[in-house]
Amino acid sequence: MNILDIIEKKKIGNSLNKEEIDFFIKGYTDGSIADYQAAALIMAICINGMNEEEILNLTFAMTNSGDTIDFTNIANNIVDKHSTGGVGDKVTIILAPIISALGIPVAKMSGRGLGITGGTADKLASIPGYDLEIPIDEFKKNVKKIGISLISQSLNLAPADKKIYALRDSISCTDSIPLIASSIMSKKIAAGANSIVLDVTCGNGAFAKNLEEARELARIMKKIGELANKPTVCVLSSMEEPLGRFVGNNLEIKESVNFLNGIYEKDVKEVVFEIGSIMLKLAGYSDDLDYNKSKMQEVIDNGNALKKFKELVKMQKGDVTYIENPEKFEKANYILPIYADKDGFISKLDAMVIGKVSVLIGGGRLKKEDDIDYTVGIELCKKVADKVYKGELIANIYAKNEKDAVEYSNTVFKAFEISDYPIFYKSPIIEVI
Ligand code: URA
Repeated sequence: MNILDIIEKKKIGNSLNKEEIDFFIKGYTDGSIADYQAAALIMAICINGMNEEEILNLTFAMTNSGDTIDFTNIANNIVDKHSTGGVGDKVTIILAPIISALGIPVAKMSGRGLGITGGTADKLASIPGYDLEIPIDEFKKNVKKIGISLISQSLNLAPADKKIYALRDSISCTDSIPLIASSIMSKKIAAGANSIVLDVTCGNGAFAKNLEEARELARIMKKIGELANKPTVCVLSSMEEPLGRFVGNNLEIKESVNFLNGIYEKDVKEVVFEIGSIMLKLAGYSDDLDYNKSKMQEVIDNGNALKKFKELVKMQKGDVTYIENPEKFEKANYILPIYADKDGFISKLDAMVIGKVSVLIGGGRLKKEDDIDYTVGIELCKKVADKVYKGELIANIYAKNEKDAVEYSNTVFKAFEISDYPIFYKSPIIEVI
C-alpha cells in the first residue's frame, strides 16, 4: 500500500477502506507521510466527501493514534462538551467552572483557533502563566482534586487529529463534515469523558452554513458517540452573528470573567444554560432541565462558579490576579471606534466577516506556525435587534497598530446592516438532537 494510490483513489471520488485510512493515519502520525501528501489527501476528502463507514473508520483511527484516558478510578459521570466552532464562542470557559462548581467533574481538551473560528485553547493561553500542556497524570490529578481541568491537545491524545487540524487550518479545509465530525469525536473519545454535549453551530460564522448541514453533522457525531458507548446530545445553535460582545482572545476571557461575576449577554447566557442543563442531565444531576438551570444560576450568584474558575487557573499555574482584576490584561495598542451612519435597528451582524477580520488583525493564524496576538479583536457595541442612532458607536477595533485598524474599519462597518423597521431578538438555540 502507498500514499499516492490512496490520494489518487480519493481524488477520483472513490471511497477508502479501513486499511487505507489506518495506513494514512499511522503514516502521518509517525512522520513517514509528508505534510504535502497529507494536504493533498485532506483536500480530496474535503472536495469529494466521505461515506459514513469512512467517517467512522477515520474517527477511530485518529482516536487510536495515541493514548486514551481512563477515568474509571476517579469518577463515572465525567461530562465533556465541544463546539463545532464559532465566532466569539467563549461558552466552554464560562460553562466548565459552572458545571464543576455543581459537583460534576469536567475534563476537557480544547482546540486552538480553526479558520475564522476562535479556539478555547488560544483564549486560555492569553491568561499569563496558564499551562495548557500538562501531562496526563496531572490532568487526571486536577480533575480528581478540584473537579476540573482544561487543557489543549498537547498530550498524546488523538495526535493524528492535532496534526490534521493544524494542517486543515492552513490549507482552507475547515468546512468539511467528515473532517469536523472525526476531528471532534476522535479527541472526545480519547479524552475519556462518560458523556458528551456538542454545540453544533449553524450559519454564516460556522462551518455548517445551513440547518441541513448542521443536522447531518449532529447525526453523524451522535452515531459515533453511540458506537463508542458515550451518550451524545447535540444542541444546534445559530452562528449568524458572533456570540456575545467580544471577539478576540484576552477580550473573551475578560467577557467570560464578567459573566461569572453575573454580568452577561443574553445570547451567551442562553447557549451556556441550554448546554449546561443537558450536561448536568447526562451526568445524572437531575432530569429536570429547568431545575438544572436554576442551580447553574445559583453558583453564579453565590460566586462559586467564579471561585472554581480561579481554582482552575491557579491549579494550571495561571496568574489568578488577572481573573480577580481583568483590567490587568494587556490592552491592544490601538483602538478604533466605528459609528453608525443612520438611525434604525441592527438587522444583520455578519459573523463570518467579523471572524475574518479578527484573524487578519492577528487574533488567529494564517499559517500553522503563526503566533497569535492575544490583545487584538473586535468589540460589538451593538448587536442584532439593538436600536441605533446615526453617529452612535457600533464597534471598536482593537488592533496592533493604526494601519491594521484603518485597513479593516470599512469591513467591520459593512458587517453591520441597519434596517428602518424594528427587528426582534431571536434566541440562538435552534433545536436539540
Ligand atoms: N472543532 C474541532 O475540534 N474540530 C473541527 O474540525 C472543528 C471544530
